[in-house]
Amino acid sequence: MKWNINSWRRYPARQQPIYPNQKDLDKVLAKLQKLPPLVFAGEVKALQNDLIKVSRGEAFLLQGGDCAESFKNFGAINIRDMFKILLQMAIVLTFAGGCPIVKIGRIAGQFAKPRSNDFEELNGIKLPSYRGDIINDFKFDQRSRIPDPKRMLEAYYQSATTLNLLRGFAKGGLADLREVHRWNLGFLKKNKLYKQYAHMSEKISETLNFIEACGINIKDTSTLKEVNIYTSHEALLLPYEESLTRVDSLSGEIYDCSAHMLWLGERTRAVDEAHVHFLSGIKNPLGVKIGPNATAEDIIALANSLNPLNEEGRLNIIIRMGVEKIVQKLPKIFARLKSEGLNLIYSIDPMHGNTTKIGNYKTREFDKITQEVKSFFEIAYSEGIYAGGVHLEMTGQNVTECIGGASNITQQKLNKRYETQCDPRLNADQALELAFLIADLLKRNRKC
Ligand code: PEP
Ligand code: CO
Repeated sequence: MKWNINSWRRYPARQQPIYPNQKDLDKVLAKLQKLPPLVFAGEVKALQNDLIKVSRGEAFLLQGGDCAESFKNFGAINIRDMFKILLQMAIVLTFAGGCPIVKIGRIAGQFAKPRSNDFEELNGIKLPSYRGDIINDFKFDQRSRIPDPKRMLEAYYQSATTLNLLRGFAKGGLADLREVHRWNLGFLKKNKLYKQYAHMSEKISETLNFIEACGINIKDTSTLKEVNIYTSHEALLLPYEESLTRVDSLSGEIYDCSAHMLWLGERTRAVDEAHVHFLSGIKNPLGVKIGPNATAEDIIALANSLNPLNEEGRLNIIIRMGVEKIVQKLPKIFARLKSEGLNLIYSIDPMHGNTTKIGNYKTREFDKITQEVKSFFEIAYSEGIYAGGVHLEMTGQNVTECIGGASNITQQKLNKRYETQCDPRLNADQALELAFLIADLLKRNRKC
């Protein structure tokens, strides 16, 4: 069937809210269609060029951020700290891993959540599930859980202000390498990790001094002062994505201008359904989450639908199988895909296959997360495939949502600072620790 901006409406669409009032919904969508795009096509093309390098094994992709952004936790401090932790991880990966890093936040639009169950039960009360702040309210009462289309406008404006600040940070001085490596996140304990970071920071200072002593003026070198941070979210709520999809006046190409990159979740990636159909018609770089039940044939079919021209840097296959299943399933899949000649980026999401529940808390063990990352690199290496990236749920705050890591978050400590509205995130300490581990893996893996 021919693609146009609303042809997805003729396909089955999973995980969509049922809005109680069609007129209210139409009004909001009409308004969104008139609002300015959040990203510019030129930036999206720049991201694809960066991702071409990843696809060739010349760079590594770091994608991370909240599981779900929220209206409640929206503020400059959270955005700044997310920016800082992404940049610090990127520095660790660049310096210790020796590889250029493409940075994409799960930010400025990551609001809609797929749910395995339509209902949630708490203390004997059953209510419709929370589906992300762009759809309904986290508060556990009947009224809060009714989908409200006006939330799309709030999500749009929050995304716009978030992007505004990110762009300011990226180009306005906060990303200056001479400062970034000296940042102290404030809660790094005097542990092994702290020493490792201080040691690397010292070596970066020495290197910068050396470059300056050679007569190169680093103050005026923009690559040492500025960074590119791109945005991404799950393209789940299709009416919202449709409303922000525009024709680029320069090229005539169609872009979803809600973010630079969009991905599809494990629950909405069926090739004959609405989400895949919609994404097949836009030019943005795309991702697809791949769970333990997927086959190599499923991935080939997705590549044919989402990247029929086999373009480099277009499609990111994000593996999220869990620490046990990845070793059982992935080697065979990689072996088969290797013979297909498809241009794909492969990255690992070590979060979503490793979620467990302790009491009322959803959590993840840091050891399982690191082990799935290691297995991914090992399997890729032995199958001759480039391990191209990592996809994480993390925050720049000192939360206690995942168990373990150098600061040793225990089960008993989970309630200290458990703030996520959806899945448990790595805190800044855990994220940095993981970055050091990935840097070691990158050294062996890299072609860059
Ligand atoms: C997510 O990335 O938050 C998510 C829901 O992932 P998945 O679709 O892989 O479960
Ligand atoms: Co999640």
